[in-house]
Amino acid sequence: MSRLEGKVCLVTGSSGGLGAAFCRKLVAEGAVVAAAGRSLPRLEPLVAELKAWTAEARTRATCGPAGASARPSAGSAAIPASGAGTEVSAATGTAAAPAAAGSRIATAPAALASADHLAVELDIGSWESVQAGVRQVEAALGRIDVLVNNAAAYGDLTRAPFWELPIDEWDRVLATNLRGPMLVSRAVVPGMRARRQGHIVNVASATFWSGSANWAHYVASKGGLIGLTRVMAKELGPDGICVNAVAPGFTLTAASLDLVPGAESYGVDRGCLKRAQQPEDVVGLVAFLASDESGFITGQTIIVDGGRQFN
Ligand SMILES: NC(=O)c1ccc[n+]([C@@H]2O[C@H](COP(=O)([O-])OP(=O)(O)OC[C@H]3O[C@@H](n4cnc5c(N)ncnc54)[C@H](OP(=O)(O)O)[C@@H]3O)[C@@H](O)[C@H]2O)c1
Repeated sequence: MSRLEGKVCLVTGSSGGLGAAFCRKLVAEGAVVAAAGRSLPRLEPLVAELKAWTAEARTRATCGPAGASARPSAGSAAIPASGAGTEVSAATGTAAAPAAAGSRIATAPAALASADHLAVELDIGSWESVQAGVRQVEAALGRIDVLVNNAAAYGDLTRAPFWELPIDEWDRVLATNLRGPMLVSRAVVPGMRARRQGHIVNVASATFWSGSANWAHYVASKGGLIGLTRVMAKELGPDGICVNAVAPGFTLTAASLDLVPGAESYGVDRGCLKRAQQPEDVVGLVAFLASDESGFITGQTIIVDGGRQFN
């Protein structure tokens, strides 16, 4: 049995980058995923891809002894680890799965629950949108077992000393990156508290440790999220809910490629492991923190950066 079999996971900011990679990994581990974002058309290719994988897995599991033995297991098939270049065939509805640059082999999807993956419009900057999105997921999928607070203002931010940062941009970054995860958590926790179980995974950043200059609003927002993670862990622990954070180092997503000239080699020399970080380097920890295998870990922030920072 896959460790996330039948778990319903809501992932914010899923239209690309790390969010899409998290969705793929969670589905590969057996979850049913609600992929959330501000634009439904941008989410639909990913959700079509996830549905195609799951439909294929269900077919394999229900076509007799030979089919049952062909049920996907760890390492049995390659799925793309980033959204780049993924296409869904209009003729067959099945996902073509080109290997993304630098991607590693992941497991095939094993989600065999009757519910299917869902795209949901959800702007974490708006309490109304958050409530409507969470209600939609709960109505369609029955509950939310896992929340991954991934969405953030990240790639398009001004780089300048704090005294020069536009004050309205400071407010937008804090509102998105700190208030946003608080709002989504606030909408999701009543259901988790009623069931006395749940996992919340906040996506922070290793920049909190490096103190990345000229990025005060972003670094402060992620530092605040690490503090929020600890408070939420204390407040939700009595209800059996685990709250943790992952802090990725500089990871090669589309947003990062636009951020730094020479992104492919940026900071590689500063890590213990001398290579660039890919989204697939982060997904395993998120799947672990989403699962009951991490059920006695809470309030923690774990850096995933190939050993650039030590916590
Ligand atoms: N890549 C890295 O090096 C790195 C390192 C450390 C931490 N992180 C964190 O990892 C997460 C993903 O980063 P990424 O590299 O994948 O960048 P990304 O592609 O820009 O991902 C950010 C996502 O957040 C969404 N978003 C922004 N504002 C939103 C809002 N108000 N409501 C809902 N969604 C919103 C964006 O959706 P739209 O498509 O609607 O704009 C986008 O899908 C972020 O939390 C980032 O801070 C990234």
